[in-house]
Amino acid sequence: SFNPSSFLDEISPQLREKVGNSKVLVAVSGGVDSTTAAALAYKILGENVIPVMIDTGFLRENEAVSVKEMTKEVIPNLVIEDQSEFFLSSLEGLKDAEEKRKKFRDLFYETISSLARKYGTNMMIQGTIAADWVETQGGIKTQHNVLVQLGINTESTWGFTVVEPLADLYKNEVRELARYLGLPPEISERQPFPGPGLLIRVVGEVKIEKLMVERRANTVVEKALSRKGLSQYFAVVFDSDSEEDKQKSAEVGTRVRVYKARATGVKGDVRSYGHIASVEGDLNYDALRQDVSKLSKYDVTHVMYLVKQRDQGKYSVGIRAVHTEDFMTADVPELGLSELFSIAEEIMKDPLVKEVLFDVTSKPPATIELE
Ligand code: XMP
Repeated sequence: SFNPSSFLDEISPQLREKVGNSKVLVAVSGGVDSTTAAALAYKILGENVIPVMIDTGFLRENEAVSVKEMTKEVIPNLVIEDQSEFFLSSLEGLKDAEEKRKKFRDLFYETISSLARKYGTNMMIQGTIAADWVETQGGIKTQHNVLVQLGINTESTWGFTVVEPLADLYKNEVRELARYLGLPPEISERQPFPGPGLLIRVVGEVKIEKLMVERRANTVVEKALSRKGLSQYFAVVFDSDSEEDKQKSAEVGTRVRVYKARATGVKGDVRSYGHIASVEGDLNYDALRQDVSKLSKYDVTHVMYLVKQRDQGKYSVGIRAVHTEDFMTADVPELGLSELFSIAEEIMKDPLVKEVLFDVTSKPPATIELE
């Protein structure tokens, strides 16, 4: 089993040798992995570490400030770099999931590159873990932080080298290391948050207004579901344009609407990009699992149960919650109708929200995120 103290003994000389006496940038996203990487780097390399949190504009509500507060004992001098204008203006209007991910990655490393110059270093440390590059290599999705393993030469592309001290660890090991390094439970036990942040939860076209809807709805879902022992729980938003599909409705036995919005799934070992569909009627999880298996034979990757709807508004908000051991497969918890209903009511205080749905698709055939 994993022993954080021996890991530290092993990694310390390696990291010292790679970095030498140079200054080194560490990118902190507030997620467990990058924050642990920064705490580790600071413990081993001390003042030569420049921990930066880039505010991409796609962070959760109050994220930058609260991460700085939560980590102040273990990562002193965390610098918050506000780059939200740059990211938002460059990503606005993009629609395709992989295009959004790739663009985000490029903007992210361009930013790192200019920060590296600003702070007088050509080296960065990041918190890539084993699962990240396994999935990217498998072609499932472009993780923003996987470069070296894809053969991307950061030195010639962006002018800096990347060091990844956590590259062989799994999530539970990173959490153990985080506790050992003295990070508070708000960090070590935190649900994972993807590097591209809310960008991939604003499903389809990126619009500022839609991002605002997403950020507010995500806060509601996180508050409502935080103490239930779930692996991950968040909100997604997509445009409400949908069409009733008579054939699918007949097959499933309830009204099925297929959205223009597309979302990712996994088929076998490869990523698929299909549509979101909604089903209506009683909240019966056995029946819903059958609906998912019927609809996933078509071009549908995520099936959502309609919780609440009205005429007003133009966005659909999906509540996403999963249980998982390894993030390679995941199940949907059977949340009760009254709980879903009260979350929906809270989200619908936002006049731009037309309807709230609950994503009932396991992984596979869906992915945990929608893009
Ligand atoms: P999927 O959606 O592929 O997600 O089932 C599996 C796990 O990975 C997280 N995830 C990411 N983490 N950068 C990250 O650091 C990314 O680009 C990224 N995409 C997905 C996701 O939240 C889930 O925990």
